[in-house]
Amino acid sequence: MPAVTTQLGPLTLDSPAVLAPLAGWTDTAMRRMARQFGAGMVFSEMLSGEGTRRNNEKTRRMAGFNKEERPYFVQYFATSPNQAADAARLLEELEPDGLDLNFGCPVKKIILNQGGAALLKDVGLLARIVEAAVKAVNIPVSVKMRSGWDYRSLNAVEVAKAVESAGAAWVTVHARTRSEFFQGRAHWEWIGEVKNAVNIPVIGNGDVRSAEDVQTLIKATGCDAVMIGRAAMGYPFIFREIRHLLGTNTPAVPPTPRERCAAAEQQLLWMLDFYSLSRRAVLEFRKHLLIYVKGLHGCASFKRHAMNLLEPDDVIVALRDYLLNLPDVPVERPQSAIDEAPVWC
Ligand SMILES: Cc1cc2nc3c(=O)[nH]c(=O)nc-3n(C[C@H](O)[C@H](O)[C@H](O)COP(=O)(O)O)c2cc1C
Repeated sequence: MPAVTTQLGPLTLDSPAVLAPLAGWTDTAMRRMARQFGAGMVFSEMLSGEGTRRNNEKTRRMAGFNKEERPYFVQYFATSPNQAADAARLLEELEPDGLDLNFGCPVKKIILNQGGAALLKDVGLLARIVEAAVKAVNIPVSVKMRSGWDYRSLNAVEVAKAVESAGAAWVTVHARTRSEFFQGRAHWEWIGEVKNAVNIPVIGNGDVRSAEDVQTLIKATGCDAVMIGRAAMGYPFIFREIRHLLGTNTPAVPPTPRERCAAAEQQLLWMLDFYSLSRRAVLEFRKHLLIYVKGLHGCASFKRHAMNLLEPDDVIVALRDYLLNLPDVPVERPQSAIDEAPVWC
């Protein structure tokens, strides 16, 4: 797999395509898959700064990782500078490569708590939160944000400049406002505006569906890296496709059913290592599995069968029975696999 290096603050990544934080999805198994297939770095699901500060066992467990995931950043949200600093110190003890502060979460529960994207409405407080985290730890702290609260208050450039002054290592821009949630298309031009305004690296994010999109986004905005969320669900192959296209300027061959089988099986095995109850692992795995097989001949009846299975061995037998009996030729994944990806709300 050709390496296409990019520099993000102190980190040299072997690909400019990074796996997004995805609550309910990017557990250690999905992150390992992404790295194995060529993602430049990975992020944890968003954790609560307050939960971390209270030393909440669940939060700390969710932040845990396997060394194969490195570079690995833990993402969290905080609503005050003290909370941000306390959580940062505790998370640093787990030895991630860095921390990422979330100012993009549109979820009502978080917004009502004055966290996530709500802080885009108070840039002063947002910057103090970043500064407190940066000062509290010896690892890099980055920021992920949306482009503003709504169309009338687009302030991505102002926020990016403020977090640069506060010491953030880089900023990721999800090119939508909070009000847009996941509707419409991301406005990639907003990423270019931020890139032109700051000296820290910028990661572009929003609606990147293919290796070609990565090329287009980098060319159009000059961003230093690209973050991929929904298009990586059940399809770690996207990171291989990106490295291939950027490294050789030719498109990669899509995965065969046999490759999909091997990858899905590996992800389940890593989930079994992580979740203490095997049934929990199987239940969590189902949503990934549904996407792994999307677009393949006969997938509807396989899904109906697989969704009733509770034992890991049964899932593996069913997967092999289905996928290893399909013709072993590359199959493009249908666009609908991304259009229908679940969103965060
Ligand atoms: C199911 C789901 C969960 C998400 N969880 C998080 C999260 O924990 N932290 C975060 O910063 N963004 C989260 N996001 C937003 C993504 O990281 C990303 O910004 C967004 O999906 C746009 O990228 P995409 O078009 O490549 O999916 C989530 C998105 C989805 C769909």
